[in-house]
Amino acid sequence: MATPARDNGPMDAVDGRPEPGPEPDPHDDFPIGFFTRVDESPDEVFYEPDRFVTHIDDRAVQTVGRLYRQLGIDGEGSAGAVLDLMSSWVSHFLTPPSELVVLGMNERELRANRQARAYVVQDLNADPRLPFPDDRFGAATCCVSIDYLVRPIDVLREVARVVRPGGLVVCTFSNRCFPTKVIRGWLAITEEQRCHTVGRYFRLAGGYDEPMAALCTPAGTPGDPLYAVWAAVSGGAGEGSGEGSDGVGAPDTAG
Ligand SMILES: C[S@@+](CC[C@H](N)C(=O)[O-])C[C@H]1O[C@@H](n2cnc3c(N)ncnc32)[C@H](O)[C@@H]1O
Repeated sequence: MATPARDNGPMDAVDGRPEPGPEPDPHDDFPIGFFTRVDESPDEVFYEPDRFVTHIDDRAVQTVGRLYRQLGIDGEGSAGAVLDLMSSWVSHFLTPPSELVVLGMNERELRANRQARAYVVQDLNADPRLPFPDDRFGAATCCVSIDYLVRPIDVLREVARVVRPGGLVVCTFSNRCFPTKVIRGWLAITEEQRCHTVGRYFRLAGGYDEPMAALCTPAGTPGDPLYAVWAAVSGGAGEGSGEGSDGVGAPDTAG
């Protein structure tokens, strides 16, 4: 007598084991609505007008440059080619890397970036795949922008692919944003929780050593705070991510 097939999902014809389903989406680990935004219109609409401004104050800008110097990813270090994601007309390096490629939404801003050798206009929320070969860069940066990504883990996976093993990926952020374009989850959490959230993005993306986080401006002082979360792409020769902690520490970048 034939046995009725149980509804165990798709079956492998050979050994009867269930076929693997689709990969779980790590973004689903976050609360429902975390990655939604008030303004869900295409990003190209919002970023079409030029914004030749700095999005953080002078102290925070200088802190970004000092952090890049300290981590060895600017032109004084050995990273070589660097990719600045979600870039604009400024990339904040004290000394530009030997080759800086900038990727962002506004072509006129990117063309005006005097530290960049090349630019790419790409909406990472529409397509997180990066148009570069594996191991193309020695490091990558993303300054005051990770909060605009609706699929940040996919983007960080791609960044781990295009940055060579041991290369650092450095995300910096403050407490200012375009509120209609930032993901709702970012607005719902504290500044310290944002550090943990970005660290979690790195872990869920995979391909990175343990991320480090720091408050780089002196705590409790006036002005824009500057937080950084960074990680080395796994498989490097053990250079590591430098000194830091998973909590919020204070590296020697304040000044
Ligand atoms: C607050 S600005 C920061 C610009 C620059 N990183 C800086 O430090 O001044 C946010 C930047 O993210 C870029 N951006 C926003 N959404 C993006 C997207 N979906 N894909 C790629 N870049 C995006 C914009 O072009 C804009 O320049």
